[in-house]
Amino acid sequence: MGKFEPKVPVNLDPPKDDPITLEELAKANVTTLALLSQLLSQSFSQSFSQSSSNQKPLSSWINVERRSERLIHTNALTPIQGKVYDVSANKAYREGGTYNVFAGKDASRALAKSSKEPEDVQSEWRDLDEERQGTLNDWITFFSKRYNIVGVVQGATNME
Ligand code: HEM
Repeated sequence: MGKFEPKVPVNLDPPKDDPITLEELAKANVTTLALLSQLLSQSFSQSFSQSSSNQKPLSSWINVERRSERLIHTNALTPIQGKVYDVSANKAYREGGTYNVFAGKDASRALAKSSKEPEDVQSEWRDLDEERQGTLNDWITFFSKRYNIVGVVQGATNME
């Protein structure tokens, strides 16, 4: 068995390279709350309106769904070396979770330094010594065996 294998096998999707802006990542928590309430009220009105004749076309619900899917995921996305991992399945990265500090910003430096200090949660890692770059590579192996890559930070300057 290879290094850092998950205890339970994880089926991963092919990595995506959709651009995700830093603003989208940073706004994540607020947007998610706003969006969840929006979704709830919409699904209520949808079920109420099912019997009436003026229903919204299905395509507009699908759009709401797609947009919300994307925004909800931005609540717990952790970019490392510019690649955005969807860590939303793990509550450790959500609001109030132990590793929430890593969500929404590039966590490369923090992971390299084994640090949870907010000032270390940033993208630059090239100036670090070899040992720390090795630690970062180990974390990348860890994340890439567990989490889907859903995009790339737009304009990232810290990729390999
Ligand atoms: C008192 C200190 C710490 C303790 C007791 C601790 C404990 C743990 C435990 C028990 C896990 C779960 C391991 C597993 O799922 O197999 C974990 C995961 C993790 N720890 Fe820590 N940790 C500590 C400090 C840190 C620090 C300083 C960092 C900063 C880099 C860190 C980053 C992580 C990350 C990224 C994960 C992976 C979470 C995931 O995606 O599954 N930890 N830690």
